[in-house]
Formats: sequence, structure tokens, C-alpha cells
Amino acid sequence: MHPVSSLHERAVSSRVLIAAELQELLDPDPVPGYDVEWLPSDAPTPAGDYVAIVPLLTRWIGGTEQKNLPDLKIVANCAVGVDNVDLVAAEMRGVIVTNTPDVLTDATADLTWALILAVARRLKEGERLIAEGKWTGFHPALLLGLELRDKTLGIVGAGRIGQAVGRRAVGFGMRLLYTARGTRREFEDQTGARRVDLVRLLEASDVVTLHVPSTPETKGLMNRERFTVMKEGALFVNTARGDIVREPALLEALASGRLAGAGLDVFAEEPRVNPELVAHPRAVVLPHLGSATGHTRRAMAELAVKNVRAVLAEEPPLTPAYR
Ligand code: GLV
Repeated sequence: MHPVSSLHERAVSSRVLIAAELQELLDPDPVPGYDVEWLPSDAPTPAGDYVAIVPLLTRWIGGTEQKNLPDLKIVANCAVGVDNVDLVAAEMRGVIVTNTPDVLTDATADLTWALILAVARRLKEGERLIAEGKWTGFHPALLLGLELRDKTLGIVGAGRIGQAVGRRAVGFGMRLLYTARGTRREFEDQTGARRVDLVRLLEASDVVTLHVPSTPETKGLMNRERFTVMKEGALFVNTARGDIVREPALLEALASGRLAGAGLDVFAEEPRVNPELVAHPRAVVLPHLGSATGHTRRAMAELAVKNVRAVLAEEPPLTPAYR
């Protein structure tokens, strides 16, 4: 090797940070030619000459973190949501941010349906009845739930996941309403879905499911006023982000009977879950499992490191979070 080029190469860092929890999902040498440091989620983000970071969605990569990583070329978030990354700071610093769309769409839509069905058919109450030894036998009026056929599913945010949830609804015989920035023609043709504004969707839906990202515009979107316009006895499901919902308003809506049930996979202050929600017989709560299948979690980790490999090879990222 020419001495000048080897000198130059030595001056460029070859260190990459990857969330330690992803190690078991990845090949042993995920970024060949680079030294990988496995960063546990309870360790702070280090400062140094790292050129790439693959964080979990629980790690905040803000302006300070990016300043402490002056050689950073890419934040390859191992999630579809990028609300844990300061995108403005990244754009200003010329740091590429990528996410993991598509690979998790089906798993997340499936889990959304697991929650819709669990809440509609009162699975938590049924399980409790048995666990507490209170089931006295078959009764024709025991734990009667909501029949989904001919009911209306309201999809707040018909992006990839929202549409996948909607396509599954056709098999359950549901009518579909959705909100989105623009008309989703193909989705409408496939499912008969109709685009409406948020208030109309909330007023008309028997089941409302959230699929918008957490952004300054969507934080607190489901507040008291919006729960109040929902149909009496409607069901509410959130597999998007916890901070889109004002949890006290959700609890009030459950307490007043406005909501007959809620299925929640995400919370405002994860991993803390409001004890009232945990205890509520009509609230099914899960620990952020939307994309949690082995197949999908491996695909997400692999896509994140593919983005790293591309950017470090000076190729365009596969799945940039913004353009
Ligand atoms: C999970 O919540 C994700 O954003 O991928």
C-alpha cells in the first residue's frame, strides 16, 4: 500500500457503535473493515470518533450527542420511528438518518389486530376470571364483546402500517375510514376505505387505531376533546407512539364509559406504564411488541447495518428517514 494513502486511512476512524441488544440478531462481523463497539442500552452515548451509530429507539440522539460524535456520518435507527433522533441537528451537521420501514409492516399490523381482537372480545377479563378462580361455567351472556362485522374501523394515519391494518380489516367485514395527508387511491380501491378528517373519523368509528409518527404536530393529538367526540362505547388502539395520546384523557374516557376498551402497545413514559391502565379490566397493555417477531427483528437489525455499510462505502442509504 502507498505510504501516503495508508497514513490517510489511519487518520480516518473505523469505529462503529451498535446497540448491544442487536448482537444476537446480527452476523458476528456486521460491518466488515470496521471495529464494532456494542453499546448496551443502559450505557450513555459515548463521545469519540465513531463514524456510525445503530441505536435502539430508546436512545436519544440529540444535538449534544451528535456534537460529541463529530465524525458521525450516519444514525441508522433500528426502528421505523425516528422521534428519538434530533433530525434538525442531523441535517445541520450533514448526518444521514435512516430507519427500518417495510420490514416491520406486517408484524406491526398483526400485533395491532391482536390488540383489536383482544379488546373487542374482552380477553383480559376472561383470562382474569379464570385466573381468579371465578369462572362458574358457560353462560350465554358472559363477557359479551363487540362483533366486528359491519362496524367501522378508523385508521388515523394510512401510511404503510395503517394500510396493512386496513387490508386485514377487509377479512373481518369492517368498513374503513382513514386520515392521511393525501388520498391513498390504491388502498381505497383495495379496501373501499374513505378518507375523512380526524373529527369525522372519531365520530363515526367503532374502533380507532393510531398509525401516525410522533412529531410536534401529532404529540398529544388524542386529548380530552378528541376522546369526547368518539362514539360511545368505541374501542381505541395505539401501536404507534405513546406521546400521541394524553394518557389522563384516555383514562377519563375509559372511566366514563365513552371508551369500552383500549389496546396499548406504547406509552408516554416507557417503560413506566400508568398503574391505572395496568389494573383496568378493559385496557390490554403490552410492552412495545409491535415488530417483535424473530423474523422481523432480524430484518430490522440487518437493514440498519446495511444502511451503515452503504453510507460508509459512500453509497446512498437504502432507507433514508428524510430526503
Ligand atoms: C417501533 O416502535 C418502531 O418505530 O420501529
